[in-house]
Amino acid sequence: MPLISAKAILDDANKNGYAVGAFNANNMEFLQAIFAAADSEKSPIIIAASEGAMKYAGQEMLYSMVKTLSDAYPQIPAALHLDHGSNIKAVMTAVKAGFTSVMIDASHFPYEENLKMTKQIVGVCHPVGISVEAELGRLQGVEDNVSVAERDAVLVNPAEAHDFVESSGIDFLAPAIGTSHGAFKFKGEAKLDFERLKKVKELTGIPLVLHGASSVPEAASKKFEEFGGDLKGAKGVPFDVLKEAVKFGINKVNTDTDLRIAFLAKVRESVAGDKSQIDPRKIFGPARDYVIEVIRERMKVLGSSGRV
Ligand code: G3H
Ligand code: 13P
Ligand code: ZN
Repeated sequence: MPLISAKAILDDANKNGYAVGAFNANNMEFLQAIFAAADSEKSPIIIAASEGAMKYAGQEMLYSMVKTLSDAYPQIPAALHLDHGSNIKAVMTAVKAGFTSVMIDASHFPYEENLKMTKQIVGVCHPVGISVEAELGRLQGVEDNVSVAERDAVLVNPAEAHDFVESSGIDFLAPAIGTSHGAFKFKGEAKLDFERLKKVKELTGIPLVLHGASSVPEAASKKFEEFGGDLKGAKGVPFDVLKEAVKFGINKVNTDTDLRIAFLAKVRESVAGDKSQIDPRKIFGPARDYVIEVIRERMKVLGSSGRV
């Protein structure tokens, strides 16, 4: 199947109340794992590549690998999405390389500046069928004991979200509701601002995106630590919280950290288990298989399994 825009994938998820994983990849093994998992679960997928990924692998290389895999799995609806594009130049690099979806992340700028940049990107992308994601609010955990004013300063403002969606014409929105990137998301209980999420959904109606959605799965994290790694204090978004987020309107669930932990946990185990091994395939192969397991589990949780 040719790569399609993420809008095509997410509109169905929005209509039918499920979410699709946007899985980050920087190399061949992760891309193969994402497609293999999608094939086993009969799930649509969004491949997320950051500016760092484009720099590491090369945007043409990433595109070629994704295109090759998409041709090899013609039944799987797949989009190639620029994750956290920071400016028009990065977006144009992705567009020229063949990406079918982009995120412009200007949420750290004042509202008007964010809107201006986002409108510019929509103007460039929509005429050529590329979907656009933008973000409102800041991605960081918010403790229970902070004041209302502090919460409001960090998390999405639902009225602003409504205005932003109307004025910009974006296809999906990432509202900050209390998650953060990486393995250390919460000091205490994993709590997200679902009241805010519900309001944003009610006022915009479009597909919503949860960044920083990794769960830091217990088995993979244990393995990582058992073989010399350190993830002390790591905490992700538990599966039941993710399910609630989907119920209240999240349709795209960004996942990078969980795949990183799984891959490196297995690399650690394999290296420790065979100290004279010099064939990288013997190390990366099992790591790739472990990433497939983690992705499949998430597809089931998000409800994207069996949608193809
Ligand atoms: O949200 C960011 C993703 O985890 C990508 O991270 O910029 O290190 O590639 P990266
Ligand atoms: P995690 O760090 O929770 O995997 O989030 C990834 C992400 O939001 C990519 O955009
Ligand atoms: Zn993100």
